[in-house]
Amino acid sequence: MNNSGEPETIVGEAEYLMIRLADEIVGGILEHAAAGRTYVLGLATGSTPLPLYAELVRRHRNEGLSFQNVVTFNLDEYEHLKPDDPMSYHAFMRKELFDHVDIKLELTFIPPAFYEDELSAAQAYERTITQYGGIDLQIVGIGSNGHIGFNEPGSEQTTRTRRVELTEATRRAAAKGFGGLENVPTHAMTMGVETIMEARRIILLATGAHKAAIVQKAMSGNISSTVPATFLQDHSSAAWYLDTSAAGR
Ligand code: F6R
Repeated sequence: MNNSGEPETIVGEAEYLMIRLADEIVGGILEHAAAGRTYVLGLATGSTPLPLYAELVRRHRNEGLSFQNVVTFNLDEYEHLKPDDPMSYHAFMRKELFDHVDIKLELTFIPPAFYEDELSAAQAYERTITQYGGIDLQIVGIGSNGHIGFNEPGSEQTTRTRRVELTEATRRAAAKGFGGLENVPTHAMTMGVETIMEARRIILLATGAHKAAIVQKAMSGNISSTVPATFLQDHSSAAWYLDTSAAGR
């Protein structure tokens, strides 16, 4: 929602959306580079941002876009998946983006999958975000149950980075990739709603007709933890990037 109460909504074909979103990210990277500053980008995994990452890789290869001044923070990671496990979000990010651009890998942060003490691990992640000055732009997807990151229904606005239990709906949505529901982790570490809301700008990206119903609820439903994505309505600089199918309602 912007201050007039109207969410900024960009609707178009998926290809157009990804180009427009890449333009916004590249604009931020270049502007910060010109000022000698790092650009702090919050990233999501899942199928929705795949074409965005492909476009960013293309711009690096063909247009010389550099990620040398970029620091990234991912929203979440499954518990107990090793970084080289192909289903881990660590592996996902390397495969889809990090291994194909000139980003400094030591400046790419993803919540840990292993920890002795979940609270200190979560707090350490938050501290690292703060240390880099907070997130300039956070990309988020939306789950069919309205989750953002792995903030499942019931996640309050005040939640911070923490260990969470995944809902059956979320685990089912991931089951195919894991070769069966029984292989999908039951827990994850996720940025909290409040952590996400502290980003200076948030872009929610949704594509496909299967997201139309939840997108409608998220954008115009009552703001409540029942649909955590509704909290974005309260952000001063949030935008909804929707393809024509996801915007269908
Ligand atoms: C991924 C994440 C999730 C996904 C959401 C949509 O890092 O935090 O909230 O964004 O589940 O997933 P896809 O894009 O696969 O439909």
